[in-house]
Amino acid sequence: IYPPAYHGARLRAATMAAAHRLVLLVLALLAVATIAAAASGARRAAVVGKSAVVSLLELDGRGAARETRSGSCYADAKRAEMLGESRKSGAARTATVLELKHHSLTTIPDDPAARDQYLRRLLAADEARANSLQIKNNRGAAASTQSGSSAEVPLTSGIRFQTLNYVTTIGLGGGSSGSAATNLTVIVDTGSDLTWVQCKPCSSCYAQRDPLFDPAGSATYAAVRCNASACAASLKAATGTPGSCATTGGGGSEKCYYALAYGDGSSSRGVLATDTLALGGAARIDGFVFGCGLSNRGLFGGTAGLMGLGRTELSLVSQTASRYGGVFSYCLPASTSGDASGSLSLGGGGGASPSYRNTTLVAYTRMIADPAQPPFYFLNVTGAAVGGNPVAAAGLGAGNVLIDSGTVITRLAPSVYRAVRAEFTRQFGAAGYPATAGFSILDTCYDLTGHEEVKVPLLTLRMEGGAEVTVDAAGMLFVVRKDGSQVCLAMASLSYEDQTPIIGNYQQKNKRVVYDTAGSRIGFADEDCSFV
Ligand SMILES: *[C@@H]1O[C@H](CO)[C@@H](O)[C@H](O)[C@H]1NC(C)=O
Ligand SMILES: *[C@@H]1O[C@H](CO)[C@@H](O)[C@H](O)[C@H]1NC(C)=O
Ligand SMILES: *[C@@H]1O[C@H](CO)[C@@H](O)[C@H](O)[C@H]1NC(C)=O
Ligand SMILES: *[C@@H]1O[C@H](CO)[C@@H](O)[C@H](O)[C@H]1NC(C)=O
Repeated sequence: IYPPAYHGARLRAATMAAAHRLVLLVLALLAVATIAAAASGARRAAVVGKSAVVSLLELDGRGAARETRSGSCYADAKRAEMLGESRKSGAARTATVLELKHHSLTTIPDDPAARDQYLRRLLAADEARANSLQIKNNRGAAASTQSGSSAEVPLTSGIRFQTLNYVTTIGLGGGSSGSAATNLTVIVDTGSDLTWVQCKPCSSCYAQRDPLFDPAGSATYAAVRCNASACAASLKAATGTPGSCATTGGGGSEKCYYALAYGDGSSSRGVLATDTLALGGAARIDGFVFGCGLSNRGLFGGTAGLMGLGRTELSLVSQTASRYGGVFSYCLPASTSGDASGSLSLGGGGGASPSYRNTTLVAYTRMIADPAQPPFYFLNVTGAAVGGNPVAAAGLGAGNVLIDSGTVITRLAPSVYRAVRAEFTRQFGAAGYPATAGFSILDTCYDLTGHEEVKVPLLTLRMEGGAEVTVDAAGMLFVVRKDGSQVCLAMASLSYEDQTPIIGNYQQKNKRVVYDTAGSRIGFADEDCSFV
């Protein structure tokens, strides 16, 4: 659901009692739903000159507060649902749509001091992830000390995943014995390849909500042989380390063991195996290679494991390429509502696919690979504009930009960030909003108390080949204080010009982001990301 301003509706003052706010929000949501149903094309009209008028109330609901998914709400997460399958003529192209839920590990507190601390931890964890992705130069570590992250976040294992909070549900195993597949809720990660789940008999597993996957209960389960290429080259490309061969138990059969060790101390180790993967209930992929994790450590938030959507052979995208054509896409919801969810579509690239509900054409740019970081998706950002005004910076077009589903806040090269900030400050500041203190990694903040609505200049990124992506209003500002007295530009600077810029998920909200590995291109279109 879009901020009502998009539809020409306006919300009134944000300074009212909580009960009134709730009623107002419900009314607003109803109003938006009605308007959206009546005229889905209306939203562009309210975006004038690449700025958007949004109410403070909406910003609060859709800004920082969207991180409020609590454990109990997560427990209510609906199971993966299949919206529909569409067969295309010609190549075996099928689209499967999975529900993508937002989920985070802790509840955002209402108390201002506790909320402050929560958001600091969230941003510090995000900084830890952004730094962990800077594998080419480890100077990121110095940067995190500089911004105080190390002081705010104890480097316990799993920090890298703490911000990776979109989950979906898959089915695994079952087979011909008549037993049903085990439904498992997993974290969706475009920054890694091997899909893994916790497995019986666990030598060390963290607590998860779903029942543990039991290989013994699946007739279609098989361990991958040591001499298989999946155990050697494929595993090395996916995880950095080839499998190790070991004979366990009295059976004498050799098994291929994988070891995933993430930079922050979290890990998964176990047996590389194959089984039938069920996506969205109906779609079944036989012989899917995954990690049967016997020893897993980290903050995976009660999920059963992880779905790897990276670029190498073992990723789910590559393994299902004959069915889905190597295409997947997602739409990340902006809403904080407990029922809000987006979608993860496998396949369905191009044409009038029923799995997309994009309101603009999908604009594509070249997908770039970096041999030093095989799972990651890169692209080339050649230009930027704020509120429709182009900005110039040495860092534009200078290096590969990572697009990541797990980093929250977009990180720009220092020269690019400075130029974007200067133009944003000029336009936003000119509207009379007083600047206020920075917050964690966010250095450009305003006091918006007393303003019912704000006109937000939107950032447009121009990609190689001409595709233009304008960040949704929900992705421009981060509401630190609920009363609007500290609202920050939701972007941050890298420490060094040669570090890898990252397009984070906060700026990908309400976009259909298409990863076409066969066509080697990444596409963007506007879309209302609610999964209905
Ligand atoms: C792998 O080893 C098994 C026996 O352990 C053998 O039957 C199979 O042919 C081998 N496969 C390859 C590709 O070498
Ligand atoms: C798993 O999910 C599918 C699809 O939603 C459902 O049909 C099936 O009953 C579920 N299986 C179990 C064991 O819950
Ligand atoms: C959605 O994207 C597809 C693929 O680019 C395109 O054919 C279709 O026209 C788009 N829908 C709208 C409403 O622009
Ligand atoms: C990005 O695209 C521009 C324009 O096509 C090109 O000059 C530049 O070399 C490209 N940069 C990278 C890192 O590919």
